[in-house]
Amino acid sequence: MNLKVLEKQAQEEIYHIQSLKDLENWRVKYLGRKSELSLFFDSLKKLPLKQRKAKGSQANEIRLILTSLYQQKKKKLESQTTTYHFFDITRPGQKLSKGHLHPITLVLNEITRSFEKLGFEIILGPEIETEYYNFDALRIPDNHPARDMWDTFWLKSKIKNQKSKLLLRTHTSPMQIRYMEKHEPPFRIIVPGKCFRFEATDNHHEFQFHQIEGLMVDDNITLANFKFIIEEVIKDIFKNQVELRFRPSYFPFVSPGLEVDIKLKNKPKGQWLEIMGAGMVHPDLFETVKYPKNMWQGFAFGLGVERIAMIKYGINDIRLFFNPDIRFLEQF
Ligand code: PHE
Repeated sequence: MNLKVLEKQAQEEIYHIQSLKDLENWRVKYLGRKSELSLFFDSLKKLPLKQRKAKGSQANEIRLILTSLYQQKKKKLESQTTTYHFFDITRPGQKLSKGHLHPITLVLNEITRSFEKLGFEIILGPEIETEYYNFDALRIPDNHPARDMWDTFWLKSKIKNQKSKLLLRTHTSPMQIRYMEKHEPPFRIIVPGKCFRFEATDNHHEFQFHQIEGLMVDDNITLANFKFIIEEVIKDIFKNQVELRFRPSYFPFVSPGLEVDIKLKNKPKGQWLEIMGAGMVHPDLFETVKYPKNMWQGFAFGLGVERIAMIKYGINDIRLFFNPDIRFLEQF
């Protein structure tokens, strides 16, 4: 047997090998116990010592070369195999846990979309307000007993050259004034956003919550328009599963004022829950923003978003919304 030919043949074959299985066959063929090389070693035993040494060392050298070729190839194929798996696009992926929107955001989006369908424009306003816009311009002067309705977080700093104190807005109503100062009717807007009140919390009150302010002004708007629009939106959000109740109330910036309660139809014995304050915009507000006298009429409302979410999802404690408990949030 020609050892050189054998070596060359083995080298050529291993060069073309692409899989670990073929490589194993190659190993058995060239280095295994029944390989030509092994048989050759066996045959050496019969030769005299001198010849045995000479031929043996040549064969040994070839065995070393082939073994190292084998090891190199094995390493290469193994690393290719892992890379191949890594890029296997047909392999089912590992499921990544995905985030999702907060229940308040979901409800907020749903309500604003519903108003948008009725032609309302969405406007945003500042969460830090001045005393003027939050109270005075809305006919709630200092010392007015109605200020007690809104326990307030006052801020220590002031805006330069401005007398009005700063606060965290207690409602979204200041945007009624801010918007009317810059726009002429007719218009219909909603203002979603965060509000803050310095009050003790319980299962229906939080010091931070969301409101959606609504304001629609034109030359012949009445409470009938208000009732129609609110009924449409609430029906849309609750898929017609709730009853509505309108009852008289008082807010300094509307006249007449009212409140709206809702109750689930499938719980006739359940409690009515107040979801918004509302009313016809007080004529003094039109005067404050310098609209001509007796020209415009409008309605305004402030809707509590958490209240709607609580009824919609059957949540009995408002404080859960701002609690970091993931077990609560993952249900939505
Ligand atoms: N801003 C009032 C509140 O937060 C609600 C309201 C808005 C009432 C608009 C009348 C008109 O209590």
